[in-house]
Amino acid sequence: MFNIIICQNYDEVSREAFRIMKETLKKEAPVLGLATGSSPIGLYKKMIADHNSEGTSYRNVRSWNLDEYIGIPRTHEQSYWTFMHENLFDHIDIAEENIHVPCGEGEDAEEECRKYEESLRDVVIDLQILGIGADGHIGFNEPGTPFDSVTHVAELEEQTRRDNARFFDDNMDLVPSKAITMGLATIMRASKIVLIATGENKADAVYGMIKGEKNTGCPASILQEHADVTVVLDHAAASRL
Ligand code: F6R
Repeated sequence: MFNIIICQNYDEVSREAFRIMKETLKKEAPVLGLATGSSPIGLYKKMIADHNSEGTSYRNVRSWNLDEYIGIPRTHEQSYWTFMHENLFDHIDIAEENIHVPCGEGEDAEEECRKYEESLRDVVIDLQILGIGADGHIGFNEPGTPFDSVTHVAELEEQTRRDNARFFDDNMDLVPSKAITMGLATIMRASKIVLIATGENKADAVYGMIKGEKNTGCPASILQEHADVTVVLDHAAASRL
């Protein structure tokens, strides 16, 4: 079931996502599923501002991130571990031991996937934040990924690598070709999902997710089966609905 919120601009999009986040943070020991990319940055800014002004604490929060590149160190400026620290974790009082980001540094990525999925076995994510790719991917679950997938090694599509090249000096040779990602079944276990999408280049993917046929050609269409998904959009991303 989709609850669709269409906003005037990105600030309003972030505010709506934050409103739902704030509800989740009232729980005694909230579990957050977090995403990187440009879509949730405004939400993270609002979380930081609220932590500073209202004293909202993250001491009891545990978090699991969706994904991480394989083959670059955690300290690399483009790793998702670094992204999360720079854009959120370094500015709130979450404990380092409560933060989970898949590790793409090791020799055995398959084993890391198994361990990551295992770390979530007895956990229910209260609120999963998602963005969506222009091709309908969520996490790094590209078109064709089975709906029953759990945490796995994903090959990045050319389009996704091209979209991300801007973060790697526009040099495609530097863009990793693999990543560790929560699977679609892993994401579906979250109690509540908020998906943020803005801009015209997301309009087709948003349409496919909500109104398209439910199939692996649009990975996000699996969310049609989820009981509680709020999609927060600007007018451009909502333009095909
Ligand atoms: C990020 C992630 C990706 C992004 C998606 C949209 O952790 O898993 O699925 O959410 O590629 O990226 P942006 O928000 O940069 O348009």
